Amino acid sequence: MEYEEIVARRKQILSRPVRPIPQEKLAAEHKRYAERTRRSVEIFEKAKGLIPGGVEHNLSQNKPFPLAMDRAKGYKIWDVDGNEYVDYLLCGAPIILGHGFEALDEKIVQIIREKGPATGLTSEYELLAAEQIIKHMPGVEMVRFLQSGTEADMAAIRIARAFTGKQKIIKIGGSYHGWSDQMVYSIHIPQTGALESKGIPNECFSHIVDVPPNDFDALEKAFKEHQDKGGIAGILVEPIGGESGAHPVHPDWNRTIRQLCDQYGALMIFDEVVTGFRLDMGGAQKYYNIKPDLTVLGKIITHGYPSSGAVCGRKEVMSACAGSLGQKVFVGGTLAANPISTAACYHALKLMEEHDAVGKSTAYAERLTRALNALFATRPDLGFFVYNFGPIMHYMTTAFFSVDLTAADALIQILNRKQVADDYQVITMAHGLCTLAGTRMYTCMQHDDEALKKTLAVWQYLLDLIPKH
Ligand SMILES: Cc1ncc(COP(=O)(O)O)c(C=O)c1O
Repeated sequence: MEYEEIVARRKQILSRPVRPIPQEKLAAEHKRYAERTRRSVEIFEKAKGLIPGGVEHNLSQNKPFPLAMDRAKGYKIWDVDGNEYVDYLLCGAPIILGHGFEALDEKIVQIIREKGPATGLTSEYELLAAEQIIKHMPGVEMVRFLQSGTEADMAAIRIARAFTGKQKIIKIGGSYHGWSDQMVYSIHIPQTGALESKGIPNECFSHIVDVPPNDFDALEKAFKEHQDKGGIAGILVEPIGGESGAHPVHPDWNRTIRQLCDQYGALMIFDEVVTGFRLDMGGAQKYYNIKPDLTVLGKIITHGYPSSGAVCGRKEVMSACAGSLGQKVFVGGTLAANPISTAACYHALKLMEEHDAVGKSTAYAERLTRALNALFATRPDLGFFVYNFGPIMHYMTTAFFSVDLTAADALIQILNRKQVADDYQVITMAHGLCTLAGTRMYTCMQHDDEALKKTLAVWQYLLDLIPKH
C-alpha cells in the first residue's frame, strides 16, 4: 500500500469513533482467557513480588496479565499451559529463519562445548561476522560489535559528534532508538517530548532536536537554525518510519535527509535494528538505494542469541573508534563480540542468505496483507487495514499512535483508542495469535498456509464480536 493511501485510511479511522467490543462479550473472553492460562496467572502472581510489574519485557502483552512462554519452534510458540500460538512477534523481529532453527542451534552448541562462552579477547569469529555484514550492506566498511541496539545507537551518536566536531542530534518524533537517556524523547507518539522520560534530567535533551516525521520544512529549518549554534552532528533515522513503520515514511523523506546531511556536513545514521537483514539482506540502505554514513544493527544479527548489536559504517567515520588514549571514541562491553554472539552472527547471516529467508518471509507477508485487507473490506464500517514493508506488517484498527496532539481531547483519545486496541489484542492472543503492541506483525520464512488460515479465522472471530454500524 502506498504512503498516500496509508495516510488517508489512517485519517479516516481517526475521524470515526472507536469500535469497542461490548462489555459482556469482552468479560466472557477474559474469563475464557484466564481459564486457559492458569499457570501463566500463577507465575505472574508470584513474579509481581520479585520483578517490577511482574514482567521483564516491554514487548510482552501485559493485559490482563503476561503469558509465560514455554517453547518455540518454526512459527509456533507454546505457553506454559500448552496453548499454541502463531507467532508474529518473533522476539521483536530477529527471528526470520524460524524459531529453533537446527542448523544454527547446532553450530552454537558446538561453540559452547568447544570454545566456552567468552575470553574477553579477540576470536576469529569477529572477523568472519564483520565480513558477512560488510558483504551485504552497501554503506558498511567497518563494524564495531556491541551488546544491544540501545548501545549501538549510543555509540553512533558519540561517533557522529566526535567525527563532525558538532553537538546536536536530530531525532524524528515517534521513532525508537533504545532507552538511553538522550533517546527517550518523543517516543511512540511524535512530539510527545519528555512524556515517557521519567528519571531522565531535562539537560540530557539539550542537544537533541526533535523533528516531526515527514515534516520537510521542520527538517530543513532544524539544519539551518543550528548551523550557527554548533551545527547538526547527525540525524538518527528509522528508514521505514518511526516504530518500524508505524509512522510510515513519505517516499521522498530518506533522500531529502541524505541531501541535507551532505549539504550541512552532518552524518546520516540509519537505525537498521529491525530493517537490517529483514527488509533486505542489505537492509533499508539497499532497499532504498541510499547510503548512510553510519548504520546501527541489533538483535537480528545474532538471530536472537544474546549480546547482539553493532555500529558500522564508512571506514573514515568508524576510524573515530580507533587510536591512542584520549584520541578515540570510547565504547566498550566486556561481553561484546564474544565467540557465541559473533559465531551466531556469522552462521545466521549465511543461513538467511542460503535459505532466502527475506524473500520467503516477504512473500508470506504480501499474501497475508492481501488476505487480511480482503477480510477487512467485508466490514467497511470499521475501516481496519494492513500494510507492509516486506516482512514487517502493520495493522491499523484504532490508530492510537497517530492521534492529532493539537486536539483538545488528545490524551483522552489516545488512552481510549489504546484501550480498545488492547482489547482486540487480548482476543487475538486468546485465540492463538501473538502480535506486537496491537499494531504489528513480523513474519518468518516458515509461516505457511496453515498459519495464514488460522490468522484469518481469528480475525474473522474478532470482527464478528464488534457490532455492525
Ligand atoms: C529501531 C530500533 N532501534 C533500537 C532498538 C533497541 O534495541 P535493543 O532492544 O537491542 O536495545 C530497537 C528495539 O526494538 C529498535 O526497534
